[in-house]
Amino acid sequence: MTDPLVIFTPSGKRGRFPVGTPVLTAARQLGVDLDSVCGGRGICSKCQVQPSYGDFPKHGVHVAEGALSEFNAVEERYDRVRGLKTGRRLGCQATVQGDIVIDVPPESQVHKQVIRKAATQRDIIMDPATRLYFVEVTEPDMHDPTGDFERLKAALKDQWQIEGVTASLPFLSKLQTTLRKGQWKVTVAAHKGHRDTHTQLLEIWPGLHEDGLYGLAIDLGSTTIAAHLCDLVTGEVKASSGRMNPQIRFGEDLMSRVSYAMMNAGGDQEMTRAVREALNDLTQGIAEEAGISPALIVEATFVCNPVMHHLLLGLDPVELGQAPFALATSESLSLNAREMGLEAMNPNARVFVLPCIAGHVGADAAAVALSEEPGKSEDLVLIVDVGTNAEILLGDKTRVLACSSPTGPAFEGAQISSGQRAAPGAIEKLEINPDTKEPRFRVIGCDLWSDEDGFAEATAASGITGIAGSGIIEALAEMRSAGIMDPSGLIGSAEQVGTPRIEAEGRTNTYIIHDGTADGGPRITVTQNDVRAIQLAKSALYAGARLLMDERGVETVDRVVLAGAFGAHISPKHAMILGMIPDVPLEKVTSAGNAAGTGARIALCNVTARAEIEATVRKITKVETAIEPKFQEHFVNANAIPHKTDPFPHLST
Ligand code: FES
Repeated sequence: MTDPLVIFTPSGKRGRFPVGTPVLTAARQLGVDLDSVCGGRGICSKCQVQPSYGDFPKHGVHVAEGALSEFNAVEERYDRVRGLKTGRRLGCQATVQGDIVIDVPPESQVHKQVIRKAATQRDIIMDPATRLYFVEVTEPDMHDPTGDFERLKAALKDQWQIEGVTASLPFLSKLQTTLRKGQWKVTVAAHKGHRDTHTQLLEIWPGLHEDGLYGLAIDLGSTTIAAHLCDLVTGEVKASSGRMNPQIRFGEDLMSRVSYAMMNAGGDQEMTRAVREALNDLTQGIAEEAGISPALIVEATFVCNPVMHHLLLGLDPVELGQAPFALATSESLSLNAREMGLEAMNPNARVFVLPCIAGHVGADAAAVALSEEPGKSEDLVLIVDVGTNAEILLGDKTRVLACSSPTGPAFEGAQISSGQRAAPGAIEKLEINPDTKEPRFRVIGCDLWSDEDGFAEATAASGITGIAGSGIIEALAEMRSAGIMDPSGLIGSAEQVGTPRIEAEGRTNTYIIHDGTADGGPRITVTQNDVRAIQLAKSALYAGARLLMDERGVETVDRVVLAGAFGAHISPKHAMILGMIPDVPLEKVTSAGNAAGTGARIALCNVTARAEIEATVRKITKVETAIEPKFQEHFVNANAIPHKTDPFPHLST
């Protein structure tokens, strides 16, 4: 008699197995992705499967009742105590009795796919560097005088085929008590990076550990630090949080921080201390928000620009302030959190810092490349990650170029007279009636007096505290469209001055968005200096993009991706009216949200992505804006709105 046929879905993998074979064993032999933390002991429930019965013409089988064994004592106990969903079975306990079709639900797959919301975004396949393993360790014996750690290693080799295991002193210091507390059954968190030849044990718990395992994906920007707390088993983002980068007090932009390090002995260490303190605070806060112990955070990945990278690691950034902008290292780094002064997470937590592309193009740009994959694109894509520094990538599957451009903090609302962070009370969207010159706007957190789109007439508004970066972009673009500002950026023609919203202030004019008298709030205006600050920022951004286009020998691109938290909030139309990005059909401009943060998350959840980004970075061509004479020429031409010479045909369509 032939052995029963076992078919797994959705993989379609199939094979014949002797009666009595556990489903988990069949899955492993066929290479089916079925999880297990307890190693088949019937306690973790990660191996749950869903058998199907009846006729399956597609597979050419009939599955009779009884094709799987009845519940055994272990499965029955699990069902009684913890409860199995209807129809579900424990793959490690149920055995094959006849031809069977077995579905592996997504939550039982080791390499489960974390589906991201937008169709344009890349899904993440879960394959973390740190995993949980439940093991039963042999008790010590007078006749076998081996150490507890040696017996733990033997158990890992025997039960999980893990060899080359190492552990730190903090781990060893709790090993003996934990083994005894768990009556020789323990769960360990074991870490193996993509370049590691050994597996490092990070943490140990008595019995089966069921409180999860977490990692932090951190985007360390010059102005803000953003972190996602991810479940390392499911990939779910449990909490997201941010802090201002406290290094701002040493200088708003990167070069002023490098200058601070140059001018003040020990200045670099001061900035390193400040950012590490903020990171420890952020770690504690995000763990609290998610309701977990910070000790369950066993990994972190970092993306940052080169100056932030050096200051995070405690490396002197002085060389980054002068040509040839040499990095101490551009390679990715795998470190212990403690040696970086990150003390709020698990004492053995591991840190992976993504590689930098060049002295001016950092790990944040590498993370954008990992997330947006320009090197796999069929069409030519321009990706701009707008922040205090703009990271710009241009490429397709033949070649990818990268540069960074010093836009300064104006896009984030800094250096703008009424500017503020995107927080409640900030104007984030704005429209101006071209006939009356009256604005309507949307304010974060104030929807009481707005229409269904969240917009309100300026006269109806209250509680306004300032204007966010996205709001200032829209204000300028709308001022240009409404004829309040000319192509050179000058506010107000002679006839307009003295009309209700345009006021002369010395030798320049100001546009009044909200005068604040009615509600006792602040006066929100756009001054000529504000326009100049945005013009400088947008010229730097455009010039960087144009430089890459020159290098590539093209006059246009096929599509544009706006990345960065800020990029998610600006409208493509307004960005193009201002000439922040080159002309393309508007429907070809998309937003990727915080792509650098997503890159950090991919590297956190998928260990092979770390090797992928290292290979990608090696292939990217770096273009240095600071020494490229054409940059200045592009910068000057981009000062006009939208541009002095480059055509913008899609603005008129
Ligand atoms: Fe743990 Fe089946 S493998 S319950």
